[in-house]
Amino acid sequence: MATATTQTRKREAFGSRNVFILSAIGSAVGLGNIWRFPYVAYEGGGGAFLIPYLCALLTAGIPLLFFDYAIGHRFRGSAPLAFRRIHRAAEPLGWWQVLICVVIAVYYAVIIAWAAMYTWFSAQLTWGAGNENDFFFTDFLQSADVAEGGISTDFVPQVGIPLIVVWLVVIVIMALGVKRGIGRANMILMPLLTVMFAILVVQSLFLPGAMDGLNAFFTPNWEALADPGVWASAYGHIFFSLSVAFGIMVTYSSYLKRKTDLTGSGLVVAFANSGFEILAGIGVFAALGFMAQAQGTDVSGVASSGIGLAFVAFPTIVSQATGGSIIGVLFFGALVFAGVTSLISILEVIVAALQDKLNWGRVRTTLTVSIPLAVISMALFSTTTALTVLDTADAFVNAFGIMAVALVAVIVVAWVFHKLPALRDHLNRRSSFPVGRIWVLLVGVLAPIVLGYLLISELITKISEPYGGYPTWFLGVFGWGMVIALVVIGILLSLMPWSGRSHAKDDPDYDEFLEVEHYDADPETGTIRTATPHETSHEKGLGA
Ligand code: ALA
Repeated sequence: MATATTQTRKREAFGSRNVFILSAIGSAVGLGNIWRFPYVAYEGGGGAFLIPYLCALLTAGIPLLFFDYAIGHRFRGSAPLAFRRIHRAAEPLGWWQVLICVVIAVYYAVIIAWAAMYTWFSAQLTWGAGNENDFFFTDFLQSADVAEGGISTDFVPQVGIPLIVVWLVVIVIMALGVKRGIGRANMILMPLLTVMFAILVVQSLFLPGAMDGLNAFFTPNWEALADPGVWASAYGHIFFSLSVAFGIMVTYSSYLKRKTDLTGSGLVVAFANSGFEILAGIGVFAALGFMAQAQGTDVSGVASSGIGLAFVAFPTIVSQATGGSIIGVLFFGALVFAGVTSLISILEVIVAALQDKLNWGRVRTTLTVSIPLAVISMALFSTTTALTVLDTADAFVNAFGIMAVALVAVIVVAWVFHKLPALRDHLNRRSSFPVGRIWVLLVGVLAPIVLGYLLISELITKISEPYGGYPTWFLGVFGWGMVIALVVIGILLSLMPWSGRSHAKDDPDYDEFLEVEHYDADPETGTIRTATPHETSHEKGLGA
């Protein structure tokens, strides 16, 4: 009989495979698709960028998406629990991913808050024609220069107040749980987002000058393919975009039923995400083509960097196009919806990890996680130095967080604990799209080589010149200091004891999951196999 301290919660689950697929697409399709991809693609050679992009998707994005699914589903846990079930020593990898999500969540929320305000501003044309750049940086963000004034704590209410609202909304969704909160939010927001985006793209295509924009986007600049930086940005982008390697897909797939087609679902998610991304590129560049024509310049003159593209170029289009307010409301509204469905997946990594570690209930864990994060998010990002902190945290956590943990995870799982064949078997057991030796080679050999190369080149770039020209002390705290702290705190968290039995391989919930799998009747003989899960051939190489 289990005692109070050894009892574990029943693991939550998505209502169906379709809800899972929708939620995984909801996580993947986010701010990265709408404001990041179009510009990264344009900078990386326009149409020619689609080649490194597709290579990155097929050789790293999808294989690592399957890798995450296999770990989460097979080991049935949040990132720290799943890695711990691979091997005790692998637990810090899970916490590292959780902490990456902490950093992303606090700045991701603020971009959603900006987009929410801009949805409102679009309806009113608040910025006034010709004033979009100053409006965003000076009037709205009230950006201060860190080099001159250091970190400021001056509160910017027009950012802080919507930020509180964003946090309240996501806290309610998270507190409702996986099925009633996350699943339902995606069921409502994803169809809405798709419809809004489709209207936006069609409307953009009818703007005068749209074809010039599309030409700029799709005309290949083949020379760009010789630049290793272009390949690096394609690989870097695909991880963030597919929500791979920072615990999200491990966590989400742990909520799947035993008999789920993992690889089939993964392909739907990956292609839906890329379809959305390319559609975003078409919509954004059609609109930029219009803007260039209106200003009598060419598209390269109006395509600016990520944040600027969304919050400066789009307001300009809204001011100038007929029916501009509708374009603005659709665009910024789509950013809000896409952002919220991704933010809840990022938060779920943290909530699920603490639930597993502390054996707490849903509401208590959600509040314990979200309230401090909301406070940090407010403290750092509703001030006049928000933009600089955000830019630095984003650049460093992508390179030395997501890509670094992806590299270490594939090395540890493939080469230290030799689990890839067992994970491949797990994927193949129920899936419609079998993975074979090629998948093992892509994850175990190609991914470490590519990721290792990218990380070294990122390291050289960021050491040789201060990122963004920001002061050294500032990069030391919000860049280098932050990424090192994630590793150190991750190790410390893995040393803390687990409450209850949720970490154990004989956790009744986990055991039952495996038992059903292996006690199935043999299809040939009809006999029921009675071996314990750890004794079956499937499990060779998986039990610690
Ligand atoms: N995958 C999410 C995005 O693209 C995090 O924004």
